[in-house]
Amino acid sequence: MRKHIVAGNWKMNKTFDEADELISNIMDKLEKTTLDRNTQVIICPPFPFLEMTSDYSDDSYFAVGAQNVSDQESGAYTGEVSAAMLESMELDYCIVGHSERRAYYHETDEIIARKVDQLLKHNLRPIVCCGEVLEERESNRQFDVVKKQITDGLFHLTAEQFADIVIAYEPVWAIGTGKTATPEQAQEMHAFIRGLIADKYGKEVADETSILYGGSCKPGNAKELFANPDVDGGLIGGASLKADDFIAIAEAF
Ligand code: PGA
Repeated sequence: MRKHIVAGNWKMNKTFDEADELISNIMDKLEKTTLDRNTQVIICPPFPFLEMTSDYSDDSYFAVGAQNVSDQESGAYTGEVSAAMLESMELDYCIVGHSERRAYYHETDEIIARKVDQLLKHNLRPIVCCGEVLEERESNRQFDVVKKQITDGLFHLTAEQFADIVIAYEPVWAIGTGKTATPEQAQEMHAFIRGLIADKYGKEVADETSILYGGSCKPGNAKELFANPDVDGGLIGGASLKADDFIAIAEAF
C-alpha cells in the first residue's frame, strides 16, 4: 500500500529561534496524537535548520527533507548545496521543481531531471512538483503542461528508480493564494498523473507512487482532499508554519 505523506514546506521562513520553537511545538503535538500508521510526516525547513530539525526527530516521528539541491555533483558552484551533502546528513527527502523555483530561478524540466538524478544517486527520495499556472488552466491546457513536466523531468528513469519518486501536484494558482483546487479537480489531475505513470512503468509502479496535492491545503479542506482515491497526502506551505494546523492536516487521514 502506498504511503500517505504530509510534508511541510517552510519555504524561506523563520529564524533559528523561531524554527526551534516550531519544531519543538510540532514534536509536542506528535507525541500526543496517534496518526494513521500509514502516514509519513516530513518537515522541509530551510538548509540552515536541517540539522536541528533532524536532531529533534531521530526519524521516529517525522522524516526530514531539503527544499532544493544542486544539479551538479561538487566543485566550484558558489552557494549551491549538493545531494552528497544532504546524504551525508542522513536526510530522507528533497523537494525538486517547486513552481517558485521554476518561476523565479528559471528551473527547466532538464535541470529538474538532473537534480532528480543527483538525489537518486545519493539515496534521497525526490518530491517532484508539477502544476499549471492560471492561464494554462483557463485555456484547458493543464493536462498537457503536467504531462510535459512529468515526461521531461522523470521519464528517463528506470522503473526501479521511479519507485523512489514522490509527486506533488501543485496548481500554481492555488499556491499561497487561499484558492484551493476542488477535490474533483485534484482527483482528476492525480488520476491523470497515475495514468501517465501506468502507461510508462506499468500499473504496479503507478499504484505504489504517492501523489500529493499542494496549494492552500489547510485543516478545513484536508479531509475532503485526502478522501479522494488518488490523493495520497499534501505538500503544505503556509499551514506548515503553525504546529496546530500542520498536525491537524496530518490527522486528516
Ligand atoms: P501553500 O504552499 O500551502 O502555502 O499554498 C504550498 C507549496 O507551495 O508547497
